Amino acid sequence: MIIAVDGPTASGKGTISKALAHHFGLPHLDTGLLYRAVGRQVALNGGNPDNPRDALKGTEFADLLLEDDILRSEGSGSLASRVSIHPEVRQALFERQRNFATQDGGAVLDGRDIGTVIAPEAEVKLFITASVDARAQRRHAEMIERGVESGLQEIADDLRRRDQRDIGRKDAPLIAAPDALVLDTSTLGKDAAIAAAIAAVEQAMSN
Ligand code: DC
Repeated sequence: MIIAVDGPTASGKGTISKALAHHFGLPHLDTGLLYRAVGRQVALNGGNPDNPRDALKGTEFADLLLEDDILRSEGSGSLASRVSIHPEVRQALFERQRNFATQDGGAVLDGRDIGTVIAPEAEVKLFITASVDARAQRRHAEMIERGVESGLQEIADDLRRRDQRDIGRKDAPLIAAPDALVLDTSTLGKDAAIAAAIAAVEQAMSN
């Protein structure tokens, strides 16, 4: 069984995917981390994330980089969003994601194009959304917890920029697959969002 979880940044899709993987006993791949590693590698190389050749070179990152906490920073997210518009980068990361999705026993993958490009045959597709305000507040609270200073307005502006780039790109834009179940987590707490996602998967599996 493949469970595809797509949605914008800070929608709760990471938390939900982890919980689904745990609940159903499946391995989980956060595909955003791959794009973040590419962006970070480009920066380490002194390259330009907007240049397709520099961005492609970034896909040769060492797997150890995936463990680095710096990938969770806003800076890495922004670099990831920039390198991810290049079709050659998406192509280079395709097989790794596809292999993970099609492994025996199934998997949970979260990202932007899992249900549309990586695993269009997924048995279950969830599209997790939330308002910009709700997402900005969550990100803000998370950052305070980590001891990072940042303004709510600044976070909201950055989310909007990221959304525009992810939705507007030509190749594999962020969009709900026609057969995805859309789950809006704006007014849901963490436990309620997880419960709703588990119920949605159980429902899809019984069909
Ligand atoms: O989910 P995230 O915030 O870690 O993703 C960071 C960026 O990576 C996001 O802005 C767009 C890109 N991305 C993508 O294009 N396709 C994916 N499947 C996952 C992430």
